[in-house]
Amino acid sequence: MPDFKTSPGTRDILAPHSARWRAFQEVFAKTVESAGYNYIIPPMFEDLDVFLRLGEATEVVTKEMYDFHDKGGRHVALRPEQTASVCRAFVEHRPVTPWKVWYSGPNFRYEKPQQGRYRQFDQVGIEALGVDDAFLDAEVIALASMFYSALGLNHVELSINTLGDGGDREAYSNLLAKYFSKHESSLTAESKATLTRNPLRVLDSKREPDQEIIAGAPAIRESISKQSADHFAAVLSALDALNISYKINDRLVRGLDYYRRTTFEFVSTALDAAHTAIGGGGRYDGLVEALGGPATSGIGFALGLDRTLLACDAEGVFAAPQTDVDVFVVDTVDGTHAHDLCHQLRANGFSADRAYDLRSIKAQMKSADRSGARVALIIGSDEVANSTIMLRPMGSGEQYVVSRKDIFNELKKVLK
Ligand code: HAM
Repeated sequence: MPDFKTSPGTRDILAPHSARWRAFQEVFAKTVESAGYNYIIPPMFEDLDVFLRLGEATEVVTKEMYDFHDKGGRHVALRPEQTASVCRAFVEHRPVTPWKVWYSGPNFRYEKPQQGRYRQFDQVGIEALGVDDAFLDAEVIALASMFYSALGLNHVELSINTLGDGGDREAYSNLLAKYFSKHESSLTAESKATLTRNPLRVLDSKREPDQEIIAGAPAIRESISKQSADHFAAVLSALDALNISYKINDRLVRGLDYYRRTTFEFVSTALDAAHTAIGGGGRYDGLVEALGGPATSGIGFALGLDRTLLACDAEGVFAAPQTDVDVFVVDTVDGTHAHDLCHQLRANGFSADRAYDLRSIKAQMKSADRSGARVALIIGSDEVANSTIMLRPMGSGEQYVVSRKDIFNELKKVLK
């Protein structure tokens, strides 16, 4: 056993999987940049206070934060998500609205590691600030759904809900607190504890004994303001106009406290696992203000890269892209010819690799095979004397001599 291994909940992402991650990020970038979202790279750690704005009653803040004091005595934390950082950046830079940004990168939560749940996990996401229009809610949701289609996913379900505005949310929270307190003796110990911190989150319990009581709980839609109800109706009709199907789930409250009005979640029905939520988001009107900025509405989503790729595996789509080199150079003379030719090939737009340490031709050909290259270029003393190269299309059992000066043109033809 090696002395050092990755820490629990973290992984090394190796080839060919790592190429799939990059391709995932590229497909995402293309999807959201087609809608005017610009790339933002927020820092991976911030002052703890930034993340406390996610809601001091959320588990992400109370139990899962990687926070520490740095050498300057600042209390900082690794980001558990990126919405708070984007809003902090908005307040710091005061960009023109609407401000539409996308991001991609790791986040950190001290959770119990298991399949699909990690302590360091990647998300891609978008945030749009400064627009209250219901069409934006639908656009944001449509972009996530367009991205899933671009990956080839077919078994993704969208659940949607509204939490009403800040006042509605608070009134609903009080209503739930009353309702659950009445049934407290039948709730699980975990839900009883949640009830004292955040009654809304009791709705999220997946524990069997809680289900009957949750089923009888009042729904927020019965008590939200007309304005919030109208906004929700407009979002649903904008989704209908784009033929995006959804299920209204009035138990969908989400795990972070900043949500107001529209909330939504994407679930993979192909995943047979504890964690099938592959993405989620919603409106967070009020978060910018909580971070010291002007009243600004905001909406966005984040999609779990790790979990979405598990969903891709389950559906057999979005395979790792090919990253093998085009050409493998075999030099049986002294290694300098492979050294020169590889450099020339790379400078002329071909990808090329070689063997080192002047190994036997047999060993070098084995490496050529393993490299996945489509062509081997072989240089021995005859080729050096005649200014030629032996070209062998891999797996063909054939080879032929090409003049050194024609090699790039010949390769273009062979690799077409
Ligand atoms: P979230 O629901 O906490 O929302 O995370 C979004 C997605 O990240 C989840 O649906 C899941 O796929 C993935 N995820 C979360 N935790 C883990 C984990 N421990 N391991 C693997 N994947 C995980 C947010 O983070 C919000 N910032 C989304 C948002 C953006 N809302 C508005 N704008």
